Amino acid sequence: MVDAFVSFAVQKLGDFLIQEASLHSSLRQDVRWLRNELFFVQSFLKDAEQKQVVDQRVQQWVFEISSVANDAVAILETYSFEASKGSRLKACTCICRKQTKFYTVRKEIQSLKHRIMDISRKRETYDIRDINNAGEGPSNRPNNQSDMVRTLRRTTSYVDDDQDYIFVGYQDIVETLLAELLKPEPRRSVISIYGMGGLGKTTLARNLYISPNIASSFPTRAWICVSQEYNTMDLLWNIIKSIQGCTKETLDLLEKMTERDLEIYLRDLLKEPKYLVVVDDLWHREAWESLKRAFPDSKNGSRVVITTRKEDVAERADNKGFVYKLRFLSQEESWDLFCRKLLDVQAMVSAMERLAKDMVDRCGGLPLAIVVLSGLLSHKRGLEEWQRVKDHLWQHIKDDSIEISYILSLSYNDLPTELKQCFLYFGIIPEDHEVHVDHILWLWMAEGFIPTGEEIMEDVAEGFLNELIRRSLIQVVRTFWEKVSKCRIHDLLRDLAVQKHWR
Ligand SMILES: Nc1ncnc2c1ncn2[C@@H]1O[C@H](COP(=O)(O)OP(=O)(O)OP(=O)(O)O)[C@@H](O)[C@H]1O
Ligand SMILES: [Mg+2]
Repeated sequence: MVDAFVSFAVQKLGDFLIQEASLHSSLRQDVRWLRNELFFVQSFLKDAEQKQVVDQRVQQWVFEISSVANDAVAILETYSFEASKGSRLKACTCICRKQTKFYTVRKEIQSLKHRIMDISRKRETYDIRDINNAGEGPSNRPNNQSDMVRTLRRTTSYVDDDQDYIFVGYQDIVETLLAELLKPEPRRSVISIYGMGGLGKTTLARNLYISPNIASSFPTRAWICVSQEYNTMDLLWNIIKSIQGCTKETLDLLEKMTERDLEIYLRDLLKEPKYLVVVDDLWHREAWESLKRAFPDSKNGSRVVITTRKEDVAERADNKGFVYKLRFLSQEESWDLFCRKLLDVQAMVSAMERLAKDMVDRCGGLPLAIVVLSGLLSHKRGLEEWQRVKDHLWQHIKDDSIEISYILSLSYNDLPTELKQCFLYFGIIPEDHEVHVDHILWLWMAEGFIPTGEEIMEDVAEGFLNELIRRSLIQVVRTFWEKVSKCRIHDLLRDLAVQKHWR
């Protein structure tokens, strides 16, 4: 019975996060935390219900959980009811009420947080265990397929924008590059950012691209991803489409053009406006040589940003351009990134924090390694499990750092079988290709990767994808109403998928 209350509350909290898209971020964090804690506590209920027969303290413990679950639901219902009333009030009253409502709800949720923390402490004192996973030690891994499906559904039925679009550190670099982009030099100049794979070049370029200063200074902006295997015609098409939109007339017109026509057409489009084009993931100089003819220099301060792993490609893109070698994250920035990506920072007690700091330090400031490590540890509960991860990693230390390929591989190995198959599927997707989520979900279902059961298959498949995103194995490209609509896989992870597939 208590399990039903808690399940209901977990579900309600999850639905609330989806429906209340404009929720204040601190309140959102609290609601998310509460949902995760209640979800976690659920796995201890079976043991507690057995023990409560002989131990009154455990009986009280079970009662406290059910009352927290019920209170959580009541708070959300009051909030939603008040919100619907608010929409009928005049704007000014509505804003004041909204603020008051926010503080009241926040306070109520905070008090639930304290109660939950108390419940967790008592659970340890009363030695209440997760008997569903008795054979697997402290891991929270569900012990059969339908449990796993349910778990994934509940924990990952949505993806938060604030989790997936975080940008940590590099503030000095952002300032330098913004100054370079906005400086009053009229020449169309190129800014090249180079550095190793997974260092955050694309993330940094995206941060610049969406910055309000840039958006207001460059009326025309376009982003293209080149990759190792590229086709100049496709690249030109993509830039034109992103500037002009994808109308039928445009597509019909472009359809008939040769590469030379496309080049002239784009040149003409870019002649007047001050433009910014990001050319992401450039591998070959020739690719830039054939593209650059389409980028006119109208002496109006237009800019091109190139990201590349190759120093010579960066150096030679523009002899008067600005070349920037991206550095690794500092120790503080690395730790900040790790914590921001961790699902439940509050559960990290000081001994776990020490372990995590050791592990993060050995990531050598490489963001990709840090986010994948954080995704992996988010799914491990307790000191022992974190220690086990550290022991594994320590076997692969080279020159004081853990090899990135080993962290990625460890995260892959930690996936349940169904998720492994789904992840491997990304190996057949062309490099740097952005995938429509609907397509990938249908493909998984058609391949028989998604187990059938009580739940709607699409929902289960979506839960699988969100789980891969949470573990930072898949990146979000676009969201729509808090649902991911487009995603992609990082090159290094794609390489891993290809490698594992053939093994
Ligand atoms: N400053 C940052 N803040 C938050 N996350 C970051 C940051 N930099 C990188 N990341 C994370 O690290 C991952 C790798 O970053 P990114 O794809 O930008 O690397 P890259 O240098 O472009 O790699 P490649 O050379 O393979 O294209 C991203 O998924 C992103 O989540
Ligand atoms: Mg990149």
